[in-house]
Amino acid sequence: MKTRIFHLLTVALALPLQVWAETPPNFQPSTDNRLAVAYNSTTVTPNQLFQPAAIANAPTVSYNRTLQGPYMIAMFDLSITYADFAGPTTDLVPGLGTNTTTYLHWLRTNVTQTPGAVLGGSANDTAAYVSPAPPATDAPHTYILYLFPQPTNFTLPAVDAGRNLSAGSMNRYNFSIQALADAAGQPVAANYFRATSMPTNSTTNGTTSPGVQPSTGSAASFKSSVWFTTVAVAVGIVMAM
Ligand SMILES: *[C@@H]1O[C@H](CO)[C@@H](O)[C@H](O)[C@H]1NC(C)=O
Ligand SMILES: *[C@@H]1O[C@H](CO)[C@@H](O)[C@H](O)[C@H]1NC(C)=O
Ligand SMILES: *[C@@H]1O[C@H](CO)[C@@H](O)[C@H](O)[C@H]1NC(C)=O
Ligand SMILES: *[C@@H]1O[C@H](CO)[C@@H](O)[C@H](O)[C@H]1NC(C)=O
Ligand SMILES: *[C@@H]1O[C@H](CO)[C@@H](O)[C@H](O)[C@H]1NC(C)=O
Ligand SMILES: *[C@@H]1O[C@H](CO)[C@@H](O)[C@H](O)[C@H]1NC(C)=O
Ligand SMILES: *[C@@H]1O[C@H](CO)[C@@H](O)[C@H](O)[C@H]1NC(C)=O
Ligand SMILES: *[C@@H]1O[C@H](CO)[C@@H](O)[C@H](O)[C@H]1NC(C)=O
Ligand SMILES: *[C@@H]1O[C@H](CO)[C@@H](O)[C@H](O)[C@H]1NC(C)=O
Ligand SMILES: *[C@@H]1O[C@H](CO)[C@@H](O)[C@H](O)[C@H]1NC(C)=O
Repeated sequence: MKTRIFHLLTVALALPLQVWAETPPNFQPSTDNRLAVAYNSTTVTPNQLFQPAAIANAPTVSYNRTLQGPYMIAMFDLSITYADFAGPTTDLVPGLGTNTTTYLHWLRTNVTQTPGAVLGGSANDTAAYVSPAPPATDAPHTYILYLFPQPTNFTLPAVDAGRNLSAGSMNRYNFSIQALADAAGQPVAANYFRATSMPTNSTTNGTTSPGVQPSTGSAASFKSSVWFTTVAVAVGIVMAM
């Protein structure tokens, strides 16, 4: 009986985490607010798989809720392998998988919200958008886009400051997202997708590829999973008594 209750609770507590996060499972910082990201006419569904040609130019980023600016848009590759980095393999900022680190693809600062919720304004591309091009020998890479608040007179945290952030610079590797979040504040919203330079398998096109299923992330699913957890926990407690 104890085992069954424990099992029930484990399942109940694990489910909503998969349903609501708009960031990859087990990756921090995390948020349950979805950032709307559109590459031309394609609106990104979390964990969607792309070919590099479709994501070559910076996307349009928008957010549903009214914001007090300014904000920062930051995009990272979370799947840089040691072979991709070709640098030291110790003391690296962790990426999403074992033995991976990060690469800063885009850092747009001084972003303000314009009517219609598109995040733009006279922003500064502190790090210009670099087109994702994962090596053809790599499994699909995961990319994350965050919307961070930008504190008054914001400057990059010490570990990331003073780096040459030109497009071809090695300094974009091993970029600390956590340090950025510590300096700016927790992310307001996020979204993520994958990209591959491998020929796409018929079964891996779109959002139905192996691995993590796309999150639906809507307020409704968030509420229903909270409801489910509450009921399941209550049942567990009643059964335990
Ligand atoms: C924006 O809000 C609408 C209405 O609440 C919702 O249906 C839609 O999914 C939201 N879009 C995003 C990207 O969160
Ligand atoms: C997206 O639109 C831009 C122009 O706005 C165009 O240059 C580019 O080729 C388009 N990309 C794709 C993948 O259609
Ligand atoms: C990676 O970045 C961290 C700071 O975020 C730094 O402590 C570490 O030394 C860097 N590693 C390398 C190999 O440069
Ligand atoms: C990670 O890298 C270490 C050191 O290079 C290596 O010993 C280990 O086998 C690697 N782990 C995986 C899962 O590749
Ligand atoms: C924001 O814009 C102001 C005015 O142009 C500039 O002084 C400041 O450095 C910018 N901040 C960032 C983080 O880009
Ligand atoms: C940020 O953009 C504004 C408006 O385009 C410009 O006046 C300013 O010089 C830029 N600041 C930096 C630090 O690039
Ligand atoms: C921001 O910088 C300006 C100009 O250097 C300064 O006057 C102001 O006090 C600073 N604001 C904060 C909150 O540090
Ligand atoms: C920054 O990096 C780019 C690309 O590697 C390089 O061309 C440029 O000279 C570097 N700038 C400085 C100031 O080191
Ligand atoms: C295509 O299928 C092969 C074999 O199952 C797999 O190794 C590869 O990762 C898949 N490609 C993508 C882009 O998922
Ligand atoms: C998979 O997607 C790619 C790029 O969007 C496309 O060229 C290819 O035809 C698709 N393959 C299948 C089997 O749908």
